[in-house]
Amino acid sequence: MLTLETDRLTLRPWEPEDADFAFDLYSRWEVQRFIGAVPQVMEGRPQAVERIRIWRNMQHPVHAVWAVQLKATGQLAGTLLLKPIPASAASLPLHPSGDTEIGWHFHPDHWGCGYASEAASAVLEYAFASGLTKVVAVTAPANVASQKVCGRIGMRHAGQTSEYYNSLCELFVVTAP
Ligand SMILES: CC(C)(COP(=O)(O)OP(=O)(O)OC[C@H]1O[C@@H](n2cnc3c(N)ncnc32)[C@H](O)[C@@H]1OP(=O)(O)O)[C@@H](O)C(=O)NCCC(=O)NCCS
Repeated sequence: MLTLETDRLTLRPWEPEDADFAFDLYSRWEVQRFIGAVPQVMEGRPQAVERIRIWRNMQHPVHAVWAVQLKATGQLAGTLLLKPIPASAASLPLHPSGDTEIGWHFHPDHWGCGYASEAASAVLEYAFASGLTKVVAVTAPANVASQKVCGRIGMRHAGQTSEYYNSLCELFVVTAP
């Protein structure tokens, strides 16, 4: 998995030592409230350890989940994801739709600094340089902060869709330049 650099950020693989930060991030309702058909927060550190284990085992030439680290302080700020997006279906588990989604989850201590957009721009550039031709993002209709990130990184709003995650979402799309 490739480490990506921007002016202020390093996007690098998640490490087992990052579990405290991951638990702090994903145990917060303000982070999780718009994520998933039924939002849930992490309730114990072992869930963070398991999440990191799964992310580290993603074996794919392009898809990845990065820990976003501030160059200035070394602090972790959030997560950037580039991964298959599941299609809606009547029965669980959901299966990949064939599309690739980009996503971002940042710690509230690091909102309002442009870090999510800076990191996401680098991941889009990497995605297209790696041969992907289209990337989508979906947000809950009320998740205005995330919709703004989509706009800042050049994604086009394509209306609402129920095509993914068994949820009604705002859909954003960008194609390779
Ligand atoms: C979605 C989320 C990542 C957005 O974070 P964010 O910090 O608002 O997004 P950006 O990185 O684009 O930062 C832009 C903000 O930083 C400000 N900013 C400050 N310094 C900046 C700089 N140097 N460059 C750019 N923007 C800067 C901008 O003005 C903007 O603030 P505004 O929206 O109040 O105008 C964050 O709210 C989050 O993690 N939410 C929880 C998880 C979630 O919902 N994820 C998405 C699921 S679909």
